[in-house]
Amino acid sequence: MSAEYTVNGSVAVITLNNPPVNGLGLATRSAAVDGIRKALADEAVKAIVITGAGKAFSGGADIKEFNSPKALAEPTLGTLISVVENSTKPVVAAIHAVAMGGGLELALGCNYRVAMPGAQIALPEVKLGLLPGAGGTQRLPRVLGLEMALNMVVSGTPIASEKLAKTAIFDEVFGPEADLLGSAIAFANKVAHLRPLPKVRERKVDYPNHEAFLQFSRNTVKAMSGPFPALIECVETVAASVTKKFEDGLKFERERFIHLMHTPESKALRHAFFAERVASKVPDVPSDTPVRSIKKAAVVGAGTMGGGIAMNFVNAGIPVVLLETKQEALDKGIATIRKNYENTMKKGKLTPEKFQQRVDMISGTLSYAEIADADIVVEAVFEDMGVKQAVFTQLDAVMKPGAILASNTSTLDLDRIASFTKRPQDVVGTHFFSPANVMKLLEIVRGAQTSKEVLATTLALSKKLRKTGVVSGVCDGFIGNRMIEQYSRQAGFLLEEGCTPEQVDKAAEKFGFAMGPFRMGDLAGNDIGWYIRKRRYVESPEITYSKTADLLCEMGRYGQKTGAGWYDYKVGDRKAYASGEVDAMIVAHSAEIGVARRKVTGQEIVERLVYSLVNEGARILDEGIALRASDIDMVYLTGYGFPLHRGGPMFYADQVGLSNVLMAMQGYARGRHGDAWAPAPSMVRLAAEGKGFNG
Ligand code: NAI
Repeated sequence: MSAEYTVNGSVAVITLNNPPVNGLGLATRSAAVDGIRKALADEAVKAIVITGAGKAFSGGADIKEFNSPKALAEPTLGTLISVVENSTKPVVAAIHAVAMGGGLELALGCNYRVAMPGAQIALPEVKLGLLPGAGGTQRLPRVLGLEMALNMVVSGTPIASEKLAKTAIFDEVFGPEADLLGSAIAFANKVAHLRPLPKVRERKVDYPNHEAFLQFSRNTVKAMSGPFPALIECVETVAASVTKKFEDGLKFERERFIHLMHTPESKALRHAFFAERVASKVPDVPSDTPVRSIKKAAVVGAGTMGGGIAMNFVNAGIPVVLLETKQEALDKGIATIRKNYENTMKKGKLTPEKFQQRVDMISGTLSYAEIADADIVVEAVFEDMGVKQAVFTQLDAVMKPGAILASNTSTLDLDRIASFTKRPQDVVGTHFFSPANVMKLLEIVRGAQTSKEVLATTLALSKKLRKTGVVSGVCDGFIGNRMIEQYSRQAGFLLEEGCTPEQVDKAAEKFGFAMGPFRMGDLAGNDIGWYIRKRRYVESPEITYSKTADLLCEMGRYGQKTGAGWYDYKVGDRKAYASGEVDAMIVAHSAEIGVARRKVTGQEIVERLVYSLVNEGARILDEGIALRASDIDMVYLTGYGFPLHRGGPMFYADQVGLSNVLMAMQGYARGRHGDAWAPAPSMVRLAAEGKGFNG
């Protein structure tokens, strides 16, 4: 179904019907155009109502058709709107729940708009790096005024219909009890014979001294745009509603829209938008897989991660019990959580009542008996297989049947952890990122025996916790940390070859990373990597690392927590200051291993960091650890500060072109530690086929 046509007395009703939100896909657009033509041809019809079936008037473009030729096929949205606008019989948009993007643009092409209260009105295109391309930037200022329209276009934020009731956007906002269709038909009958037909395009945008306002807006938006070109384009197109004739403004808007469609930034945002949606789909776990109810949670270990994980549950309204071995550690963990909530309250982001509610939802215990009835228990104890074994043996003994036993391990073998229990089907990895109450990413580790039900429940839980859940298979480091290992190795080699930590970080940050590898190391604690490397020196002696990171730790420079790491820090100041001591250590180490230091370009730094991620990502795909390239991108965008405007490492490599990436890698393979650049088989194959990871 796409749109239905019915006649009620002398009013034709076109009902958009394309679930879930009546996206304006090709079939819907065609059916709507047909509906208008039918109504015009029927002498008995005196007025037309356009409304939406189900949950919305219309959410705008049909995202299923986004990158397909259907999106631009006739009748385009622009054609539909001009058919509506040129109708010789009055057209009334009857709006409920959602009128966004193209949906709102269609409504603005109608002669009249009536709405239910509570409808979300927005032009959110900017969130995908675009601007409204079907007249929204020209028509909205004509009904809302320049300032309000500009704010809506630049922010993409919805406004409730009743808040706009006094503006020219609506002819009437009905009461909450009204029957929308009945009231809209009554309205249509009332205006059926009024002429001339009012048209938004014929209105003027009055704004005294608009140039001063527009200049102020340009300056403000430039300061907040970052690498994204859409915001300033939004200002310029809205400006055209005052400075140009309607037709010229429309043409200008179209041209800038098409320009933005082709920018890498918008492509990256659209990729991320789809990647997030698809990440929760696992091919062999159908959407009707039963999920278990999660009403009560427990967390074992109230340290850095345990506390943050507990807060996630509480924030989602799920009470949680924290379990520790010692009262002191338990008290400390709970006090930290309390302090966190106090800070949020002080910032005005939590009312005193909500603060109390949250605190009341957390309890602590030293006894396993008290967590036995939890629906899920997340283990966040020391990263040591012996400790994990002790905990999971206990959990297996006490937890109620059907409870999910989750581990927050970041590197250990989940299948071994599951083997400590008699219910490996109930064991899953939930790898949160630090700070766990803030970071969006949740790597969901699917063990060899994790049941589909447990996986589906954990995916559903990730949504409830407002996380982006990405499924990973079992391997050392899972998706994210396994890749970052290659990135860190390259960062270390770059130091030996001639870089300073500052130079590497600057190049990475210029590319767009939130933080370069060394500032990141100082924040997370360099001792964590040291601990992991010590294990690797024994388990995998063939893997080579730069010794500089070990030397740094031997100097006691663990990072911000010890006041010194790759950089120096001053008390009460998080700023990183280049350290002469560290630079001297690096130079001495290069001499010791006989490497002549050279000048390394920013391009080489970025390529070595990013392509090492890409190559390992490709291996992860080859091994089936990640389900799809876009999942890897989601991991990096939400957990590792990879620049959003680059769309994630795999998407970025596609944009560069895999054959170009391979060529650069071949060059680096001729340098030191060339073995690190052996290309993943899928990369070679895809490059030869002229394809990318994302098709
Ligand atoms: P932490 O050292 O801050 O906290 C561990 C807590 O577990 C301590 O409070 C300790 O008293 C408690 N504990 C130890 N043995 C216990 C037992 N048998 N029963 C109950 N409680 C016990 O460690 P952190 O950083 O919170 O790490 C916990 C887990 O999370 C590890 O597996 C780690 O690899 C993983 N992880 C850590 C991340 C980080 O950035 N710190 C990020 C993602 C995962």
